[in-house]
Amino acid sequence: MTQFIEIVLQVNGRSFPARVEPRTTLADAVRDACGQTGTHVGCEHGVCGACTVLVEGEPVRGCLMLAVQAAGKPVRTVEGLAIDGKLSDLQEAFMSTFAIQCGYCTPGFLMLASGLLEAKPDATREEIADVLSSNICRCTGYTSIVDAVVKVAAARKEAR
Ligand code: FES
Ligand code: FES
Repeated sequence: MTQFIEIVLQVNGRSFPARVEPRTTLADAVRDACGQTGTHVGCEHGVCGACTVLVEGEPVRGCLMLAVQAAGKPVRTVEGLAIDGKLSDLQEAFMSTFAIQCGYCTPGFLMLASGLLEAKPDATREEIADVLSSNICRCTGYTSIVDAVVKVAAARKEAR
């Protein structure tokens, strides 16, 4: 008989009561129980990074973390980047540098980059490229994605 556990997920500042199985991944719970379908699921075994979200500010693979492990912890997904309908600087930069083609990988890259720039605002291009290499994009060739993140890092530095 399937066992269910009642948890509360804190996603983008909102509380979502969820009834999950012990094996339910955070990525599935965010999509199915919280309706935040911007988080994508690709490989489901930690390779592609499409499912990347921030948990307590740290980028994690949502397909490798169980929903029960994230209960009560602040989770941020791509839906949390825009404020009052205004895209974040990273989202704008992805568009202006053509870092999006099919867009399937994009939410994961945006959350990975968000976590990186919060933890290391002065990251160099090489460091940014190194971190972003953990996620897979089949369309863009990566350079434009690195360009977008470097552009935001520079703009934020300028504004400090
Ligand atoms: S779906 Fe999680 S890493 Fe690919
Ligand atoms: S834009 Fe298509 S996989 Fe990255």
